[in-house]
Amino acid sequence: MKAEKFALAELAADALGIPAADIEPLVEYPPNPELGDLALPCFRFAKLLKESPPAIATRVAERIRASRRFAGAEVSGGYVNVRLARSEVARAVILQSREQPLGLFSRRRGQGRRVAVDYSSPNIAKPFGVGHLRSTVIGQAIVRLLEADGCEVIGINHLGDWGTQFGKNIVAYLRWGDEDVVRQDPVRELFRLYVRFHEEAKAQPQLEDEARMWFKRLEDGDPEATRLWRWFIEESLKAFRETYDLLGVRFDHYLGESFYNDKMDAVVDELRSKGLLTESDGAEVVDLSAWNMPPCIIRKSDGATIYATRDLAAAIYRHDQLGATDLVYVVGAEQTLHFQQVFKVLEMMGKPWAARCRHVAFGMMKYNGERLSTRRGKVVYLEDVLARAISEALSIIEAKNPSLDNKAEVAKAVGIGAVVFNDLKTYRMHDVDFRYEDVLNFDGETGPYVQYTHARACSVLRKAREQGVTIPDQLAWEQVGEREWAVVRQLAQADDIFERAVDQLDPSLIARFVLDTCHAFNRFYHDEPILAAPEPLRSQRLALTDAARAAISYALYLLGLQAPEAM
Ligand code: ARG
Repeated sequence: MKAEKFALAELAADALGIPAADIEPLVEYPPNPELGDLALPCFRFAKLLKESPPAIATRVAERIRASRRFAGAEVSGGYVNVRLARSEVARAVILQSREQPLGLFSRRRGQGRRVAVDYSSPNIAKPFGVGHLRSTVIGQAIVRLLEADGCEVIGINHLGDWGTQFGKNIVAYLRWGDEDVVRQDPVRELFRLYVRFHEEAKAQPQLEDEARMWFKRLEDGDPEATRLWRWFIEESLKAFRETYDLLGVRFDHYLGESFYNDKMDAVVDELRSKGLLTESDGAEVVDLSAWNMPPCIIRKSDGATIYATRDLAAAIYRHDQLGATDLVYVVGAEQTLHFQQVFKVLEMMGKPWAARCRHVAFGMMKYNGERLSTRRGKVVYLEDVLARAISEALSIIEAKNPSLDNKAEVAKAVGIGAVVFNDLKTYRMHDVDFRYEDVLNFDGETGPYVQYTHARACSVLRKAREQGVTIPDQLAWEQVGEREWAVVRQLAQADDIFERAVDQLDPSLIARFVLDTCHAFNRFYHDEPILAAPEPLRSQRLALTDAARAAISYALYLLGLQAPEAM
């Protein structure tokens, strides 16, 4: 609908003498389609033109009617409501969905941008909980959105593989651990040992000293400490990779925090030479009081650098070495202040690209209404959640469609899709609640519902092929009925919604779009015959079914879900 919006803006520009570029962003989709397909509110122009909004709207409406570009234009208060020429829009939508490789979506505005997206970034020897799921699935969707918009994307997993925690891991393993047990289920076992460390340290505080000593050894490159630390990483990564494979997630780089150990001195030197370091209780910090923020700690009193320092080094590496023009961080909202501090320090260091750093924050994941905490050992493991979702999806499929060919494969796509979609359909800043009954409900606003609608469209098209019915290249759309129009109108918004989703880095807009498309398509499917319709209606409806199928399938791809053809 970008083209229609633009045409409307041009006509209004012509009528009012205001640049079209200032008008186009104001064009809306009326919430109630009875009013029209597009609306232009004229209130903003009143001051400039010294005219009342209804008078302005009247001038615009007259210009639109005279152009014959649209089917109609009416004034309602300060609004111009425009009706589109249905058959032309329908033809354009079908054509576009067939011709462009990315269907109705791609705008490819991102050419020349190289975006480093930091996502997932779990911590070694700690569980990859359902909380970390959010960063992974939101990040993956953002990667795909940016790529579809023509950006070059570098996906980075900033693993938490450094810090005093590893001293504790080593002590716990040496005291109570067993190599074979760790190998069998590394993350769970290492985490169990870590939790035990905290319990035992309450009664035996000397454990903490021991842990500090082991971390110091690790920092100094002691072979035994290094060997154990490497092994923890290796075993944890094996487990994380299984989860990534299941989710279809990939990274260009695994660059953990430890990767920056030898790049920290340069950062500290640069901060010092630029006069940004001050001393505070023995620690070296960057004072941010002028921006009402607590100081950014660079080096603790014992000389150790911390999380923030490593993020400074990582940002500089991504820009200077990897050539990233834009830096995106998909990390929970609880780290908002941390990123504000890091970005501010980069700016103070004189990095103009600090302005192109973005923290994509998100809310919490609750599990059946409960908060999750790693410290107390109350963890819901993502692999368990996925396994259960897959097995429940399998029982639903067994019940609904026992003769389906590749049930196991479809159950995997549906189970995982259910979990991923549940996360992405919510605006990312809102908390997400997770309940199996809800996420797997085929009739709710869920992944399975969308996948099922897609499979339904595929089945109509499959039957048409089996009956030897082909969709002609040239389609004459004489009359577009209400149910068909609702689908066309929905599909016509794809480019616009895609653009907003990219600009706001908000996959939930795509999830909303695909749900609305499915609602419109299902209504059309229930109320109108498709294969049984007389020609040329049959061809039109099949072409529309195919366009809806393509749009749903591509939207699912953007969100990181599979689109099985039958289920
Ligand atoms: N490992 C961190 C955590 O689990 C997230 C890291 C996010 N990325 C970053 N560059 N700080 O909290």
